[in-house]
Amino acid sequence: MAETQETPQGDGTYFIDAENAAEMARLINQDRILTRCMGGLLPPQLDLSDIHDVLDIACGPGGWALDVAKVYPDMRVTAIDISQIMTEFARYQVREQELHNTHFIVMDALKPLDFPDNSFDFVNARFISGFMPKMKWPALMQECLRILRPGGIVRLTEFESTISNSFAVDRMSELLAKAMYKAGQSFSPTGWQVAMTPMLERFLRDAGIQHIQQAAHALNSSAKTKEYLGQYQNLMVGFKLGQPYLVRMGVITPQEAERLYQQAMEEMMEPDYCAVLYFLSAWGEKPR
Ligand SMILES: C[S@@+](CC[C@H](N)C(=O)[O-])C[C@H]1O[C@@H](n2cnc3c(N)ncnc32)[C@H](O)[C@@H]1O
Repeated sequence: MAETQETPQGDGTYFIDAENAAEMARLINQDRILTRCMGGLLPPQLDLSDIHDVLDIACGPGGWALDVAKVYPDMRVTAIDISQIMTEFARYQVREQELHNTHFIVMDALKPLDFPDNSFDFVNARFISGFMPKMKWPALMQECLRILRPGGIVRLTEFESTISNSFAVDRMSELLAKAMYKAGQSFSPTGWQVAMTPMLERFLRDAGIQHIQQAAHALNSSAKTKEYLGQYQNLMVGFKLGQPYLVRMGVITPQEAERLYQQAMEEMMEPDYCAVLYFLSAWGEKPR
């Protein structure tokens, strides 16, 4: 397992360029919003005395992994991502914050994971559907099972498109769902939804994971709410960087995409703007 496996192996399935600095900034912001909305870093029901080695799959700039390393200094945290710049940024944070119980590795989660069997007690994967072809989920689940110790926990967290009273945001959500459908990344039979959240429990069950639990999260980012500004910035950058993906998938032209983007930015600034992002965590245990 080399810390500097510096050639990303990904075939570019992620819907935004993973080496883009604006995407990295978006993910730094989004991580804080999501973790807050989830009520903390780890499910409160867990017996933490059993958790020593933690893996974060597709960690982005590493916010979650760094926080786990900080809050739980006795845990050893490993985090992987396809992005060179995000892993570099995270390693810089490790040095700055002297979090020597964590390390970041460039690794493709679509390939067999470069870890021995029974290496981890907790495997986390949050918001990875943006690069996961639907056929690849079972293989990743088997890899999670392989690298978990008996009794170890795997947690998946995925989202549905934002629901709102803005025409343009609603249309953007619809286009994202359609594009993911066309890219083979959605479980919706029609492409009207992303349809990831209904699958999580099944992915775990089919992999042989036991004692499955779930927690649903609602991120309200309507005007005047606490999360409004952060989520405005998140959507502003996400919509912009996601435009090439929507165009590539043939769900919109570049001109229409730009017009819709401008309209969405305006509508999100309306005082009566209302929006909620629903996401779901599901986790369970490798049989002992
Ligand atoms: C939406 S971000 C999620 C970041 C983080 N898990 C979080 O919840 O804050 C998706 C991440 O997947 C990474 N990624 C894309 N393709 C990948 C691949 N094939 N293997 C590993 N990571 C990948 C991207 O670089 C990006 O950091």
